[in-house]
Amino acid sequence: MQKPVNGFSKFSKEEKIDWVAQNFSKNPQTTKKILRTYWNSNEELQKIHDEFIENTLTNYYLPFAVAPNFMINQQMYTIPMAIEESSVVAAAGNAAKFWSTRGGFKASILGTEKIGQVHFMFKGDANKLETLFNTIKPQFFIDTETITKNMKKRGGGITSIELRNKTEELQNYYQLHCTFETLDAMGANFINSCLEQFAKTLERESEKVDLDIEVVMSILSNYVQNCVVKAEVSCRISDDKSPSSISKNFADKIIQAVAIAKAEPYRAVTHNKGVMNGIDAVVLATGNDFRAIEAGVHAYAAKDGKYSSLTHAKIENDTFYFWIEVPLALGTVGGLTSLHPLVKLALEILQQPTAKELMQIIAVAGLAQNFAALRSLVTTGIQKGHMKMHLLNLLNQAGADEQEKKQLVAHFKDREISNAAVAEALQNLRK
Ligand code: MEV
Repeated sequence: MQKPVNGFSKFSKEEKIDWVAQNFSKNPQTTKKILRTYWNSNEELQKIHDEFIENTLTNYYLPFAVAPNFMINQQMYTIPMAIEESSVVAAAGNAAKFWSTRGGFKASILGTEKIGQVHFMFKGDANKLETLFNTIKPQFFIDTETITKNMKKRGGGITSIELRNKTEELQNYYQLHCTFETLDAMGANFINSCLEQFAKTLERESEKVDLDIEVVMSILSNYVQNCVVKAEVSCRISDDKSPSSISKNFADKIIQAVAIAKAEPYRAVTHNKGVMNGIDAVVLATGNDFRAIEAGVHAYAAKDGKYSSLTHAKIENDTFYFWIEVPLALGTVGGLTSLHPLVKLALEILQQPTAKELMQIIAVAGLAQNFAALRSLVTTGIQKGHMKMHLLNLLNQAGADEQEKKQLVAHFKDREISNAAVAEALQNLRK
């Protein structure tokens, strides 16, 4: 059994690598070599990566790709994506192209409100607490002035502070429910700093009037149901096969697929996973917090009491509409945006978007991805396109060299691809 290690974070990088190699590897030299292979030869750049987190041993690569031809609100975008799943970028590119001849994507912001809460316990008279809150409310703003000064100058800041009695949900439980406008910043540090000051103010002021308040914690919420963006595509229904329309049969199939995801949570989770293929890839490429986005989006998908589809579809007046509404709390300044060279580049490729523009772009990536998945699912099935994109992975796994890969890619152009079929074809080729 592995022995506990003391003071690991104080070890040098070399010592940490030695420790991992000695304890977990049959071949320590190979382990060390793998870890070093992924170091960046530019020491300054490597140091930036080392310092992102504690105990960094090496870098963990994901492919960084772009999906071109996205027309959003009449402007063309090439969207950077960081993801390992073989078919996602190709699917995004296909959906972008498909909709570029059908009016492109439209996107709009429905809200940008961020939320944070101070959670506390109070056993006394709720009316006295309310009176105290109303008296000291201006003090919360005054005590956070140094934190909010710059944000206010730019037009953001604290937008509301509310006392909420939650004792019906949990005995003695109250909260300060606070909202914020953080403009182009994701705002986590700003919000948490404000909240921690609110907690101090609340404790100080309640002590003065002998109210016994016990603050439990102060933290932002990743459930941002009023920081929401809508993205939409629409086009004429017609069987004339023109590049600006889609057939009634195809539109009906998409609508049925969405209806199934609304009715059936087992399907909704996978349906939304497809949406998140697009969303997460751009969130990651632009240095945003994909765990926060995932948590918030799935909570939103269950907001009506049942986990459901994030996308919607209908036909109205011979027009097909397909749209998404998602909460996306994003930043285009702060965080990794000025530190990680690829994040900087991703934002450059997107023409330095504001947070609102990035919300629109990312919602479009999610909608496009869902459309591409549904289009395959209701027509050819998902495996045809998926396995085509996965073929190079299978060939690499099977150890094919460049020449063999070329020949087998041609061989599988019109054939069904599977693990077994690839192994057999490679064997035949080598005979
Ligand atoms: C695979 O990563 C995503 C899909 O399963 C999404 C879907 O089923 O809608 C294809």
